[in-house]
Amino acid sequence: MNTEKEPAFGPQTAFEIMFRLYVVLKIAKIHDANNVNFRDQIRHLMAAMEEPLRRYKRIHIQMRRNAFFINYTRVRMSYADFHINRTMLAEMIRREIGTLTFSEGLDAAELNRFIAFFSGSDPHGSFTFEEFDESFTAQGFRHIQAEKAEQLDFNATRDKQNRLAAQTYFLGIAHLKEISKAEEKVSSFHVTKIWIQTVFNHLTDNESFLYGLTNIKNHDEYTLNHSVNVCILSMALGRRLGLSNRELMELGIGAFLHDLGKIEIPDAILNKPAALTPEEKKLMDQHARFGAAHLLRIQGDRGFSGRALSIAFEHHYKANKDNWPSYRKKDTINLFSRIVKITDYFDAITTKRVYRPRAFTREEALNIMIQNKDEEFDPLVFKVFVEMIGIFPIGSLVVLDTGEIGIVTEANPHASMAQRPLVKLIADPTGRKIDGEVVDLMDVNPRTRRFARTIVKTLDPEKYGIRVADYFLSQVSEEAAFNRGRPD
Ligand SMILES: [Fe+2]
Ligand SMILES: [Fe+2]
Repeated sequence: MNTEKEPAFGPQTAFEIMFRLYVVLKIAKIHDANNVNFRDQIRHLMAAMEEPLRRYKRIHIQMRRNAFFINYTRVRMSYADFHINRTMLAEMIRREIGTLTFSEGLDAAELNRFIAFFSGSDPHGSFTFEEFDESFTAQGFRHIQAEKAEQLDFNATRDKQNRLAAQTYFLGIAHLKEISKAEEKVSSFHVTKIWIQTVFNHLTDNESFLYGLTNIKNHDEYTLNHSVNVCILSMALGRRLGLSNRELMELGIGAFLHDLGKIEIPDAILNKPAALTPEEKKLMDQHARFGAAHLLRIQGDRGFSGRALSIAFEHHYKANKDNWPSYRKKDTINLFSRIVKITDYFDAITTKRVYRPRAFTREEALNIMIQNKDEEFDPLVFKVFVEMIGIFPIGSLVVLDTGEIGIVTEANPHASMAQRPLVKLIADPTGRKIDGEVVDLMDVNPRTRRFARTIVKTLDPEKYGIRVADYFLSQVSEEAAFNRGRPD
């Protein structure tokens, strides 16, 4: 409890300390305490701590739920720094540490000894605080204290978040089903807005999981799952493009309803298990116009923005000006449509359809899109999309150099390290199916000082009878699993 009156701690200082601590712990996994790099990083950490120690007498690093507070100032992490938070949480949780306190008098030698000890205590799994504390106390650090975490509810919180995210996903499907059936959709538009707000909240708290849910496909009711997936992917992409919260909401609504015009296309055409005739294709192409007209009709005074509306109209345009809406002059397709064009394309080709019995894997889809990028997509938005999806998109099935097989569950936020995501192990080196742990491919083996695991190739999940969506769904309620209908 913060009962003491302390002067506010600058957020920049808080971040700098956290960042330096993170770097030094990473370095400690590769080098020993006498190494020049290691000592350099200790010096940087000490430099970040010196002034605050003088001023506040102590630096109190506290983990609360899934965030850090230094001297009661929340350490703010941008999306790009998310891995720092993730790594530091894991370091603390593995040892059941809730608080680390450094006090005045600390010097580089003691800090060096502490970091070497802390890193050497790396349990490769978890152990209790008592186990950690026994050896910690024996070290006799004079200016460093560690306290046990009061309540390690991080995993419980994450499970709950995942359950709620999945519920949101299926609520979206149910809601869109309702919209598609209703005659005039005005009355439920406020529900759409609330739903989008919920998606937005999940995206900020738990993006990877929500993103993982977009692996859920349903070819019986393709458009429903597809619309929810496109909505999630578009908002995630919009976030990376720096859209404001309000813009993201608008984008989300437009993306969610982008294919609404398909309700006016006969099922026989929508689900035709063969190529469409030229007439059928012409009608199919009209879904963009039907959708925009439909939205215009229901818009009323509901504040459905023009930009969101134009997504329905423009989402099949091509960057090379094929399908270019006739009312548009050159280069004036709105950003929202350029975003949805990409996410729509990606979700469509990663889904099995009656006329395409095999869906492309996410990795194959990305390669196809890269090949066609000049004709199809806005170059800048596409670049950000490729970074977002990563070399190994969430949901990819991968073989590691250890012989283990896993599913990519979280991208590495550093584009240059995209080949090192988080991976949930699902088969051991002998090929036996396991419910393994989630491993970070950034982890270094302290003995060999090399990365502990590296991806050697990807597999087509379908060939191996693995339904990637099941991994994401295995963590959610039976109700959600029931509601998902018949996945492919
Ligand atoms: Fe469409
Ligand atoms: Fe679509």
